[in-house]
Amino acid sequence: MAETTSELERYLRSTPKSKGLWEDAKNYLPGGDSRNSIFWNPYPIFVDHASGCHVVDADGVDRLDFIGTMTTLVLGHSPKPVVKVVREQMEQGMVYNAPNANQTRLAKLLCERIPSFDLVRFTNSGTEATLNTIRAARAVTGKSKIAKVEGGYHGSHDQVSVSVRVDPAKAGERSRPDALAATEGLGEGTLDQVVVMPFNETAAARKILEENKDQLAAVIIEPILGSVGMLPATTEFLAMLREFTRDNGVILIFDEVISYRASLGGAQEYYGITPDMTSLGKIIGGGFSIGAFGGRKDIMDLYDPTVPGGPRVAHAGTFNANPVTMLAGAATLEELTPEVYRKLAEMTERLKAGIFQVGVDLETPVQVTGLGSLFGIHFTGDELVGYRDIAAEDATFRYQVFLGLLNEGILMASNLVGAVSTEIGEAEIDAFTAALRRVLERALTPSA
Ligand SMILES: Cc1ncc(COP(=O)(O)O)c(C=O)c1O
Repeated sequence: MAETTSELERYLRSTPKSKGLWEDAKNYLPGGDSRNSIFWNPYPIFVDHASGCHVVDADGVDRLDFIGTMTTLVLGHSPKPVVKVVREQMEQGMVYNAPNANQTRLAKLLCERIPSFDLVRFTNSGTEATLNTIRAARAVTGKSKIAKVEGGYHGSHDQVSVSVRVDPAKAGERSRPDALAATEGLGEGTLDQVVVMPFNETAAARKILEENKDQLAAVIIEPILGSVGMLPATTEFLAMLREFTRDNGVILIFDEVISYRASLGGAQEYYGITPDMTSLGKIIGGGFSIGAFGGRKDIMDLYDPTVPGGPRVAHAGTFNANPVTMLAGAATLEELTPEVYRKLAEMTERLKAGIFQVGVDLETPVQVTGLGSLFGIHFTGDELVGYRDIAAEDATFRYQVFLGLLNEGILMASNLVGAVSTEIGEAEIDAFTAALRRVLERALTPSA
């Protein structure tokens, strides 16, 4: 563990201005920020500016960005085609009390690309998107409970703030996890509304679903367990969910806020399994706040204010579908051709192979998970099936590697998940693997 100390000392030495800014921020913001998911100990870097795949912190340290704001920035920071149209739009007004055609342009692109989208609606976050998929599922089925997997993250509203990053010691049996609150402050009865099942354990999950089938409105699932570790679902597991939900009048929701990076049509296209509803976010806003939910026409029609009697499901939001975000999203998706998706996946495969090779050379177990341009690094030889396997990894070692990578000029999420942008080429990938090699060499050297 002596090496953790030296990585920490190096981090502290190179980030004094970030530390000062963080100390100041703490006077006004609890913990110095508004986003706990990107906090790391002892304090995060404060970014001064960013461009392409480079992020420069307040101390002038330039790092390669291998996370792109939790997988959002697929074209890198401030891509020219997006900046140009957003500037022009801002001269024409930023938000109107009326719809605009930019929204239709983005909606059309999504409906053409996402197999499950007959119709779509926009929100300002993935959290609102998953909230709406669940609300629509309840409205259309007349049932209330939802099922989710242990370790699945679907945003921060009550219904999905259950069994996210739980302590396995407190979460019951692996094959029959208890529903545990992911935060204090949940409404009474929230936990009773959520059925929790193990990820990728088809038989065990099916048993739990069967037991609750008459009360279930929806099953919500990330096809790739994203922020928790970039662990793809097996086709068998998703096919079971599709069959069970179809047979039992339950709405299948794919939360593709992260997994939309798997292919042009999302993970649903990659797996060839079409859900009833899908939530999106992150990359479809071109760097601006966004969420989207869509699906079967008969479900989405619940939102239609033109039907007799008005919409059955309420949906408002001052900044929903604002013209700036819609244009940024459309400009981004228009850049993301099938060829670009193919190139992104190719680069990511190269990176994954490089990371794996470092483990082979240093004779230490390394697995690299992910799909498309998403990847997660795991230092274990054990099979990675679901959340419990990720939770069993050595957190201290992982923290040491994360700090080490920061010290070597590489930015990832603190749990070592990452995403490749179009700005990342072979030179950046080679820089990443060389940095990881140095970090692991230090970490694996027995302390004196
Ligand atoms: C799979 C998934 N769903 C929903 C969300 C929530 O999105 P937002 O942070 O935009 O509210 C996230 C955010 O990371 C996510 O990863």
